[in-house]
Amino acid sequence: MIERPRGTRDFEPDEMESRKGLEDLLRRKAEDFGYREILTPTFEHTELFLEKSGPSIVKEIYSFEDKGGRELALRPEFTASVMRMYSENLKGKPKPLKLFYFGPAFRYERPQSGRYREFWQFGTELMGAATPRADAENIALAYDCIKKAGIEDVVDMRISNLKILENHLKSKGLSNEEIEELFHVIDKEEESEKILDRFELQDEFIELLDAPFQEIPEYIEDPEHYEYLEDVIEYLSYYGVEEEDFSVDLRTVRGLDYYTGVVFEIDAEKLGAQKQICGGGDYYLGDIFGTDVSSKGFSFGFDRLLLAMEKEGKGLQKERNGCYIIPLSTENISYCYEVLTTLRENNVKTDIDLKDRNIGKALGYADKTGFKYSIIIGEEEVKNEEIALKDMKSGDQKNVKKDEIMETI
Ligand code: HAM
Repeated sequence: MIERPRGTRDFEPDEMESRKGLEDLLRRKAEDFGYREILTPTFEHTELFLEKSGPSIVKEIYSFEDKGGRELALRPEFTASVMRMYSENLKGKPKPLKLFYFGPAFRYERPQSGRYREFWQFGTELMGAATPRADAENIALAYDCIKKAGIEDVVDMRISNLKILENHLKSKGLSNEEIEELFHVIDKEEESEKILDRFELQDEFIELLDAPFQEIPEYIEDPEHYEYLEDVIEYLSYYGVEEEDFSVDLRTVRGLDYYTGVVFEIDAEKLGAQKQICGGGDYYLGDIFGTDVSSKGFSFGFDRLLLAMEKEGKGLQKERNGCYIIPLSTENISYCYEVLTTLRENNVKTDIDLKDRNIGKALGYADKTGFKYSIIIGEEEVKNEEIALKDMKSGDQKNVKKDEIMETI
């Protein structure tokens, strides 16, 4: 017996329907915001992901050597690929360029609930607008997706501006490398203490991290980046994203190394250890490609978003749909196929019994597979140019003229 590889999943038809429902919802939202869909390759040169992604991604990369000796990797995320695509083909496009994508990403992680080796991301990149209003647009779209998914009351959104901490730490003498190192362990008290102790910063830094938003200026020398974040927050209110919908949390530093400015994360508390459903912010990847475009984006962990919705009973409701044609005998089969063709041409999901089953068994099948109607066709129906239409939920049955089926259903 050959089994699925660890960390991968099969999706059965019911599940695929839910996934497609959510996919459609997210696509429509992004399009309403003026974003257009793109797709990049599933694998890239490994190098693309090594330089700027940071240690967490690098150690999780699924890489391999192909038959031509090239070092390739399954994409662990899309942002680096989109940046590559931008610098190859899209540099000349009018700015801002608003792009979105949906597809599988791969990380060699220890699989557990909500954490897979193959998972799906739905994400966006907004390129070429370095303004607080662009940051607000980025965050507002993510939050609107959450609202549309119906889970805004059970998520926790945290926003920060990395530059506030960065500038502060630089003014205290930390190098870029030390700041990066500190950000990677910001939630681990012991490890961050080791770094901060070198600069005798431990208590002061913790006070800054814990300070209410309004009091942050008391701890920092230069208010520029604080004020930038204030602007983003004001603009967010114009989208209906109010201060009670998020918190400012300087500990939100993101796990990837390419972030440079305003960042945010959204958690769904009920998902337990793997609760982060979305992450993103302002980033810079231009140095790999020699462009200096400013970009902002985010990605939803699509699987986790769906899990969070299902936990709240907000999964897509399955409704009966379509018609199942049951010929009572093969004598009038061409009449049945006429009905079938009419319905299919009108985009009604329609199936016909292919097994010459008796009516009881055929109705049982139509019921179990979720058809809304059964269409029963016997000698009488053919003679009168009719069909017998059975509502599978109520059980009601009535005869309908053959050329009035579309109106009736
Ligand atoms: P990320 O935080 O690494 O950011 O991933 C985004 C989301 O993908 C996470 O919040 C999580 O929901 C989901 N995710 C990550 N790993 C797994 C996994 N093993 N199984 C299931 N879900 C997972 C990025 O990838 C950035 N590219 C986001 C971005 C776009 N920043 C700017 N533009």
